[in-house]
Order: sequence, then C-alpha cells, then structure tokens
Amino acid sequence: MKRFISLLLVALMLMSLSGCSGNKVICAYEEETPSLYEQFEQWFGVGAAINSWNLDGSSEQYKTITKHFNVFVYENESKPDATHPSEDRYNFANVDKFVEFGEQTGATLRGHTLLWHSQCPDWFFFDSNGNYVAPEVLLERIDEHVTTIVSRYAGKIDTWDVVNEVISDGAGLRDSHWYNVVGDYDGDGDKYDYIEQAFRSARAADPDARLIINDYNMEWSESKTISMYLAVKQMLSEGVPIDGVGLQMHIGPDLDVAKLRSNIEILLKLRDINPDFVIEVTEMDMNMTGSTKEDFEKQAAKYAEMFQLFIDLAEEGVLDTVVFWGFYDGASWLNKSDADNYPMLFDREFMTKPAFWSVLEVAENNKK
Ligand code: XIL
Repeated sequence: MKRFISLLLVALMLMSLSGCSGNKVICAYEEETPSLYEQFEQWFGVGAAINSWNLDGSSEQYKTITKHFNVFVYENESKPDATHPSEDRYNFANVDKFVEFGEQTGATLRGHTLLWHSQCPDWFFFDSNGNYVAPEVLLERIDEHVTTIVSRYAGKIDTWDVVNEVISDGAGLRDSHWYNVVGDYDGDGDKYDYIEQAFRSARAADPDARLIINDYNMEWSESKTISMYLAVKQMLSEGVPIDGVGLQMHIGPDLDVAKLRSNIEILLKLRDINPDFVIEVTEMDMNMTGSTKEDFEKQAAKYAEMFQLFIDLAEEGVLDTVVFWGFYDGASWLNKSDADNYPMLFDREFMTKPAFWSVLEVAENNKK
C-alpha cells in the first residue's frame, strides 16, 4: 500500500511538473489528490488564512480548504477594526461564523489579532478632542476588549495572536499609540506594560488558550530576533503568560534557512524560563512575481527545505502549527493591481503546483 502511494505521488508529481493544467487528477480538491494536512498530521497541523466568503460549502475555495487544512485563521475579520469598530459596539457575526465552521470541521482555530498598530480604530487612543487618553484609560480598554472577545470564544478559538508586530524594525519595541499612551505605567523600568495587560487579560478570560506574540522578519533579522527574545524574556520573568512566538514567515525563494534555524535557536532559549514555550509558523507565503518553470522549481525546492525544518522542529517538540497566509495564488494579499504573485502551493485555477508535490515528498521521505 505504501509503495502504491509512493508510485502515485511520483506519477502525480511528474504530471504536475509537466504542467497538465486542467487535468482532473491534479486539481487541489479532487478525491485522488493527497490531502496536505493528512500527510503532515504526525508532526504538525497545516493551516490557512481564510475569509468568511470562503465558507460556502459548494465553492472551490471551500472544497480546497476543507481537504487540505486543519487549522484556520481569519485573514482580516477578527482584527480590532472588524470586531470592535467603536467603543460600545462589537461585531461578532463573522467570527461566530468562523467558529461554527471550526466546530463542523473539527479544525484548530487561531484568532488574529487582539492588538495591532494597524487595522485598529482610533477610538482606543484618543478622546473627543483628539488628545491621547490617560494610560489607565487605555489599559482599561485593553482589558475590556481582550476579556470580551477571548471569553466569548473560550474553548472555541484555541490560539490567540494576542499582540501583533510590537517589535521595532530597529531595536526594542515599536513606536505605536499603544506604546506611547501606556508607556512605563507600572514604573518598573520597561515599557512592555500594554503587552503585559493584554496577555494577562487573555489568560484570565480563557486559561486554556495558547497565547502568542506574533511578528515578522525574525526569519532573517538577527537583531529583530534578539529584540523579541529580550522582550519576552523580561515579561516571562515577570510572570506574563506568553506561550510562544509566532513567526509570520512571509519569505522569498532565496531565504537562508540556516540563518532562520539559528534565529529560532535564539528564541528557543526562552525555554530556559518557560519549558513549554513554542514556535508557531503563522502566516507563511513565498513572494514570487516570476512564473517561469524555473521559478516554480526554485519555489518547490525552497518550500521543501522549509518543510524539512518544520518536521525537525516538530520532532524536537517545539513546533506543532504551520499556517499559510491564504491558500491559492488567486487570493493572496501579495497580488497587486499591476503584478500577479505566485506565493502558494495551489495556483489560480486550484491546480497543484510543483511546490505542493515537493512538500509531500518531504513528508514521504521522513516517514521511511
Ligand atoms: C493583511 C491582509 O492579508 C490584507 O488583506 C490586509 O489588507 C492587510 O493585512 N501581517 C499580518 C497580517 O499580521 O494581518 C497581514 O494581513 C499581513 C502581514
């Protein structure tokens, strides 16, 4: 049986490399096509960012996501501007729909995100005269916002990106309204106070949810990785409940995977303080505007290298979740009005790309 599956995989791989667009058997959601998440189930969950309009049971999008992924996150609809547009108004309808979908499919759900400098309404920070509110007002708003949302979905949304992109691209913390308004409120010499409030409120609202600090560029920037390490180390030593770092993983086909591995090692030193500390891959895609056969082969090789690293990390017990930011080339945030992008494992017609088959091969090789 295993031999048969290997042969089938090789046959399908050859077919996809020779580009048989329209061939039934290599369509992402065909019965015969192996399921991505099933191939990696022994190591980690495989996820996708989706939108509420993907949840129509007869669409190609729906068939693709339910076949290949067992972790989901909303691309935009659980961000602060969507869930909490004004102080006295929450909008839960779309997230409720997401949670219902999660219950039907049995998938793991991620909530993205409770606090961010972007896609966040100004009412959090400013009074009616346009001045910053007092720090205690913002801390109270953070507590109310986080508590309301996390407790509503307690036991349903498994993991929260509690804060997103709080580390500066230079050094230390990002200069944001959150940071400027709250500052060093508790007077202990650091300005992590707004982050600490968010994590503490989230833990209190759902003690079982996994709480993540999510950011970008740690895939290649050692200085940003060190800033993250130092911030989390300090907060963990103060008892702030942070369970892991999310690596967004918006990468390109030239990423230096050895460098990524060494940055991950820096973050894993946090296990000296919290032995259960994890790494999650939260928003993976591979920015590529070229679409030649060589481009797709290069992409396939880099994705294979990435998935080998993920398997290694899973076997070391430090990673159990790999989420893509999207699921097919047709709907990626990387597409621009004047330039198509080709970041995912499935193309615009929901056909499997060489990268799909190369990552399946990695799974197959590691099972031997
Ligand atoms: C992006 C969405 O994909 C876009 O649709 C939206 O216009 C902007 O935000 N890092 C993140 C995500 O944490 O929330 C971003 O999502 C992509 C970068």
